[in-house]
Amino acid sequence: MIQAAYTFPSSFLWGTATAGHQVEGGDELSDWYTWEQMPGRILSGHVSGGACEWWDGRWVEDFDRAARAHQNAHRLSVEWSRIEPSLAVWDDSAIDQYRTMIDGARKRGLEPMVTLNHFTLPQWLAERGSWTCEESVLWFERYVRKVVSELKDLVKIWITINEPNVLIYGGYVSNEFPPGLKDIRSVAPVLRNLLRAHSAAYHAIHELDAQAQVGIAHHYRGFMPRNPASIGDRWLVRFKNRNFNELFPQALINGHPHFLIWQDDIPQARGTQDFFGLNYYTTEEVAMDWRNPLNSLKPGGYSQDADLSPSGFLANSPQGFWQALKWAHQYQLPIYVTENGTEDPDDGFRRNYLAQHLHQLWKAVNFNWRIKGYFHWTLVDNFEWERGWTQQWGLWELDEQTQTRKKRPSADFFSEICRTNQLSSEMVLRYAEQVFDDLFPPRGASELLT
Ligand code: FCB
Repeated sequence: MIQAAYTFPSSFLWGTATAGHQVEGGDELSDWYTWEQMPGRILSGHVSGGACEWWDGRWVEDFDRAARAHQNAHRLSVEWSRIEPSLAVWDDSAIDQYRTMIDGARKRGLEPMVTLNHFTLPQWLAERGSWTCEESVLWFERYVRKVVSELKDLVKIWITINEPNVLIYGGYVSNEFPPGLKDIRSVAPVLRNLLRAHSAAYHAIHELDAQAQVGIAHHYRGFMPRNPASIGDRWLVRFKNRNFNELFPQALINGHPHFLIWQDDIPQARGTQDFFGLNYYTTEEVAMDWRNPLNSLKPGGYSQDADLSPSGFLANSPQGFWQALKWAHQYQLPIYVTENGTEDPDDGFRRNYLAQHLHQLWKAVNFNWRIKGYFHWTLVDNFEWERGWTQQWGLWELDEQTQTRKKRPSADFFSEICRTNQLSSEMVLRYAEQVFDDLFPPRGASELLT
């Protein structure tokens, strides 16, 4: 049997990603907290409640877990509504608490990557129109200046906005996220405000700390035509790629967003990424519905032979990850994989998914593409937005009632990868035997290839 190892570059960042609202608990002044109280908004009527109780101090035990598992980085987010609970009113004790937390990460050898906006807004901004409100740009910049001035000695890598495309789709088109607008006409103004907010934050952060690295976390979703011979399916793939995957990052290159018939010039957006933050989860199958073309714009399904996660939420598509990396590489920036992972309470699916995706990541490394780190979503099961507590994405399992954590085998698998900076055949055999031949083809098979 083949013995080999896929080795990653030295000083590679290995960690997990989390977001404030999903783990902190008691985030009562945010728009998401208000949203969760409305009947029918969250699956099974769940609420974030105490979440993983990080705000009450459980970050300590979870950071200990991450550090003991040989991770050397952690992506977390700060909650605007805690830092600025009412318009222009600052709560310095919240900043102090984040300082302690981020310092705690550093002391444990976890390089912090800090997201300034991960979906949530303060309720006071929601009451003024959320991201449709033009002043949101100025207010965001002011909040960013405050946070960065206070934390810049501890944080060198900043994410301004998490997944602008998912945020726009969920909040302003599909009605799954607050503000639940469901109005396609709001997309252009929201896009414009998000691009301006990101750009203002980018320039402000560099003014405060010339050494800082700043980017966004961009969600790339793979799209494949159901029928590659169908012109309609192929057109739809291009349409979705253009509007979902490419629009935002392209505008950060050329300052020229373009959505359907709307175009704009935002010159200050040009060149405002020091790295490419890539979130990748899955690839969907796209088919044109000629009877109801608008239906085709909704998220597609998965192919019949897809390897689905336990709830059917995503398909394990490592090839799509390869495509995503190849696509991101075109931007000629260093790349951080800022999120990747799967829901899976039983953990067998997750172990295969992890092995297969890291194999693709290594292929990109092997091409000498500038891949700097990988953040697995996520450390501990947490509150999964409109899906509430119905999905389990953690390397550690959480019982929300008792707040006890239980390690899943993937945590050990990932820990060995982080410790040795490689994915070895021996590890794959122990943790993900089913995909072994796929990752380390038997000698005969590789000879046939040559
Ligand atoms: C991403 C979000 C993250 C988490 C994962 C599963 O879209 O950024 O907060 O919910 O999905």
